Amino acid sequence: MSFPTWSTRLWQQIRGVNPFDGDCLPTRVSLFGFGRPTLPFPHLWNYKTPIKIFETFYWDAEKETGFGKHNRYLYVAGLPPVLLTRDPGIIKAVLGATGDKPGQFDRDTAPTAGIARATGEDSLLYSNGCTWRRQKRMSAEPFSRSNLFQPEKFHGFEQTFRKTVTERLEALRVRQQATGAKTIRIELESEVKIVMLEMLVNNFFGGRVSYEELRDRFVPALVLLIDHMVTDTVSPIIQAHYRILTGRNAILKQKKADFEALTDIALSGRAEGRGLWNQFQSDVTDDALRANIRVFLAGAMEATTSFASWALSHLSHRPDIQDQIYDEVKGMNTYDPDNLAQAVTLNRVLEETLRLTPALYFLPRRATVDTWIETSDHRKMFMPKGTHLRLDVWHANRCEEFWGKAVTGYPAETFAPERWEALAAKGITPKDMLHFGFGHGPRFCPGRFLGLLEVGLVVGAVVKIFKFKAAGERTEAKAGVSTKPADGVLVDLELRT
Ligand code: HEM
Repeated sequence: MSFPTWSTRLWQQIRGVNPFDGDCLPTRVSLFGFGRPTLPFPHLWNYKTPIKIFETFYWDAEKETGFGKHNRYLYVAGLPPVLLTRDPGIIKAVLGATGDKPGQFDRDTAPTAGIARATGEDSLLYSNGCTWRRQKRMSAEPFSRSNLFQPEKFHGFEQTFRKTVTERLEALRVRQQATGAKTIRIELESEVKIVMLEMLVNNFFGGRVSYEELRDRFVPALVLLIDHMVTDTVSPIIQAHYRILTGRNAILKQKKADFEALTDIALSGRAEGRGLWNQFQSDVTDDALRANIRVFLAGAMEATTSFASWALSHLSHRPDIQDQIYDEVKGMNTYDPDNLAQAVTLNRVLEETLRLTPALYFLPRRATVDTWIETSDHRKMFMPKGTHLRLDVWHANRCEEFWGKAVTGYPAETFAPERWEALAAKGITPKDMLHFGFGHGPRFCPGRFLGLLEVGLVVGAVVKIFKFKAAGERTEAKAGVSTKPADGVLVDLELRT
């Protein structure tokens, strides 16, 4: 198969030729159309609502009879096609075939260009091919299950984590008591964010930053920079001019300097083997590690905050499940892997949170050559070289056909940790029902065990001390680098007696 040039692609587009092949053919989305949520690509006016952009791809897709209902493509202006899929079989096949072997998919760097400009390109997240493999060998080890969960190491680690969480919640408890009121209304997300960064900087990297400095200097710097990464991806030139006109360059410069200072702090423990640095066996220089440390700081804070915020948000609508978790954790003084495994409801809440509201709502890939993939139920799809894939985990996990009542016992769009119990009764485990909350295949999240530990600790500890009720009837989602509850987890917080 020869690779299409710009002009052959344009000719195909004009004639309406489908560049894909196989027995689960995607169907084409037109650039313009009436009644749709927005245009099917990000631009200055819609980039803050990316989930709507994806919805536009599926507009009227219900009329399709075949697999085109879940696999849709945009093909315009002589550019390579963009394939959006909410088909779990295709998502799994593509993720499994992503890596450094010839002909495998790359992670598409286009949607993370702004992140790379802020963190540096030489990182595990951004690189592809042999650079990625080298990065992975070098930096994934400290996060591995065998490292994090060795009993004696885990114990010390868990204790410092728990101390951090307990101190922060104690401060919140004192604040609540001082008001004299039965409840206080509070946005939990901002509290969670500081705790997550504190655990990462001080407990994981062995830094020594005060809570106040994290709250007043480093968290605001990271929040602004993460926001900047999104706008800088969509419209770098317009945004640069806008910053000059509004005098915002000075603020950005200051926040970047704060980020560098935080990266220095995270690296400073290396020489003395503080935190988990003693697990890190490599003779690469600190400079060679900087981009990865920046990714870990900003990415891990963002992802763990998203995950914990969503879990708390869902629970704020379900006081009955809070009580069940309370019963599991009230006597638990150590969060070791065995104890955590016994907290069945807490684990189901975490699983269901990642399914319904994954932190990373899509996973970007790019076909490096003309590629055939095969799903585990033996469907085949051909994708031409250069295809940009958007693996739409958000909509796959909300699709009634894959996760609805008939399959799991509960509607797909409902937060129902009970579905995992219903599935378990049928002998189906989370491994059989992939929701891709931590990805899948070779580029699976290396921070999974650390993230689960942090989020489990925070959610368990909040439930142990407080009851909390959502301020609104429904919580909408917002999405940037990750998804978050749009209300910042606004709850009425009450002390458990
Ligand atoms: C607990 C919340 C977290 C969630 C939900 C999460 C989710 C994910 C997902 C879905 C991927 C796969 C992306 C893809 O396939 O394109 C990923 C990759 C990654 N995650 Fe996480 N993550 C979390 C925590 C962390 C933490 C704590 C760290 C590090 C400290 C981390 C570091 C990374 C890195 C470096 C990658 C890229 C791996 C590669 O490309 O080989 N994550 N994460």
